[in-house]
Amino acid sequence: MTISDPLLQPYKLRHLTLKNRVMSTAHEPAYSEDGMPKERYRRYHAEKAKGGMALTMTAGSAIVARDSPPAFGNLHAWDDAIVPWLAELADACHEHDCKVMIQLTHLGRRTGWNRGDWLPILAPSPIREPAHRAFPKEAEDWDIERIVADYASAAERCRAAGLDGIEFEAYGHLMDGFWSPATNRRDDAFGGSLDNRLRFTFQVLDAVREAVGPDFVVGIRMVADEDMTSGLSREEGIDIARRLAGSGKVDFLNIIRGTIESDAALTKVIPIAGMRSAPHLDFAGEVRAATKFPVFHAARIGDVATARHAIASGKLDMVGMTRPHLADPHIVAKVMRGEEDRIRPCVGATYCLDRIYEGGEALCIHNAATGREAAIPHVIARTHGQLRKVVIVGAGPAGLEAARVAAERGHEVLLLEAASRAGGQVALAVRNPLRRELVGIVDWRLAELERLGVDIRFDCYADADEVAGLAPDIVVIATGGVPQNPPLEAGDDLVTSSWDILSGTTKPAEAVLLFDDNGGHPGMSAAAMIAEAGAALELVSPERFFAPEMGGMNHVPYMRVFHERGVTVTINTRLRSVRREGNKLVATLGSDFATGWKAERRVDQVVVEHGTAANDELYRALKPLSSNLGAVDYAALVNGDEILPARNPAAAFGLFRIGDAVASRNIHAAIYDGIRYAMRI
Ligand SMILES: Cc1cc2nc3c(=O)[nH]c(=O)nc-3n(C[C@H](O)[C@H](O)[C@H](O)COP(=O)(O)O)c2cc1C
Ligand code: SF4
Repeated sequence: MTISDPLLQPYKLRHLTLKNRVMSTAHEPAYSEDGMPKERYRRYHAEKAKGGMALTMTAGSAIVARDSPPAFGNLHAWDDAIVPWLAELADACHEHDCKVMIQLTHLGRRTGWNRGDWLPILAPSPIREPAHRAFPKEAEDWDIERIVADYASAAERCRAAGLDGIEFEAYGHLMDGFWSPATNRRDDAFGGSLDNRLRFTFQVLDAVREAVGPDFVVGIRMVADEDMTSGLSREEGIDIARRLAGSGKVDFLNIIRGTIESDAALTKVIPIAGMRSAPHLDFAGEVRAATKFPVFHAARIGDVATARHAIASGKLDMVGMTRPHLADPHIVAKVMRGEEDRIRPCVGATYCLDRIYEGGEALCIHNAATGREAAIPHVIARTHGQLRKVVIVGAGPAGLEAARVAAERGHEVLLLEAASRAGGQVALAVRNPLRRELVGIVDWRLAELERLGVDIRFDCYADADEVAGLAPDIVVIATGGVPQNPPLEAGDDLVTSSWDILSGTTKPAEAVLLFDDNGGHPGMSAAAMIAEAGAALELVSPERFFAPEMGGMNHVPYMRVFHERGVTVTINTRLRSVRREGNKLVATLGSDFATGWKAERRVDQVVVEHGTAANDELYRALKPLSSNLGAVDYAALVNGDEILPARNPAAAFGLFRIGDAVASRNIHAAIYDGIRYAMRI
């Protein structure tokens, strides 16, 4: 980095000076409480402000009206009660010279009617959005008048709270619903010609400008090409951008390409791991060239080099790095300190976004501090307490994270790994090309451990005596799990585990049945690899929806492979037993619903995925030798006190286990364990 770094140049936007070119675009992390951005929300944004970004676009789709029911924890911009909360949030970010804006919207058809106040949802025309599945009514004249006024009063609240500006959401929501021929079939003054389709937008802009005055930034995050037959064309989209830019009513355009009406479409707008980096950057640059107007954009501009290129090449004025800041809120600070290589990479897992629907809150797969700023720091401080010798067994995500955090706290850390490389189940997961980027979770930690001088010993299979002989103060067991079979009436010895497929130790046969009753990535990855190998595959799940542990966006690349390769998916069906007949296997399937129902499949291979059993032999051997006999005070773990009760005080070391060495879970759970336990050493 030098002071001439294009990313670090200030940018003048209307009366505001943004101190550099890096922003976080609007995203609702579902941290709201009662529709308000309270402490959790504030800390989350304040951390990014502290980390150096110039502009944080808060909320994602803060709703301006009651008949836009929250779809994923959206902020209630229609409620006066939001003003003091927004004011506190703005103050917390302004303290670090980070500008704060908010995205306002009416969700239109992109929500459900059976939430909030159960008011009917509406859209320009009564056409259902596949993703949220609700049938909207056609917006009437009195709806339009009411919602225009709602936009204006919401904008007024934002100004009253001391925010620096607002942005309207105009892709997949009500505003652009009027623009698109795919969603607007009206024959009144709001349908037909482009002038008519833009009428609602300009009515909103006029009302908002009147409410907030000239010295308040108003932007629009807009689709400028729906990239869909019958959707808004590139020509019309750029025409809209030109008209908005020329209107004098907006201050920036934040460019989107694509639609978001289904999960598959959404992954083109917000690409996930395994998909192209910065796919719409050139297009955003074209809009900038066509309008000669301030252009912002985000879509998988995942690393600083690409972000720098986006600014240096003149494609963008402000570059959005949204998920990258969930992974590391201190990106700009690190660039400024010349520590670019220490930025925790966003690996594109999109656990964050999938969780706003599946888990009710955005969490980063490998940064457990994000969204938990009150309890877990992003920067680990040295302990003021006693320095200890910590022996960690297992260099999977849990062990690596525990080692990193313990070493940051100043402890002497020795990390033992039985295999010849680090990663545990992440090393297995990355064998699926779709998930290759997860390697960043391991590589970033290995680089941090090297910097911290942690002693890592590979090919080191330590027994209890050897571990005790190292004279540790604390032993952390992070030995992970081993694959286990689902309960079968017969045929345990005839099935192949998903791990055998993922690791490549067993090749997929010609006709394969895969029974996945875990419902997460391991089963889906094994299925994708079997299908890609050319096998005839039937995926059987006992669930109503298969792969319930994975969110909608992560589902997309797997489903693409399944369709392309002709995979059969059978739900609501359980594998009961497997027997051999000649050179074939016969899988007997049963039903939880109809007693006595059964079906059989003759295949060459039966693959099973049923999570892992804890690999806890070493833990159990060390337990009686430890000062806490393995016990953990969970209340203390959550509240921040001493976590290891003295049950055997004469013993020399405390002992706990983390990650899948406790029970089968996922990468985030392993990393969360790693940091929160190590914080207490
Ligand atoms: C958890 C989450 C919620 C999001 N919600 C919104 C939203 O409400 N409105 C919006 O315009 N974009 C939303 N986005 C999209 C982001 O603004 C951004 O366009 C997207 O993450 C791609 O940029 P990135 O690759 O830098 O993350 C959301 C993203 C995430 C991760
Ligand atoms: S969950 Fe994945 S995509 Fe989301 S911020 Fe973390 S690393 Fe990035």
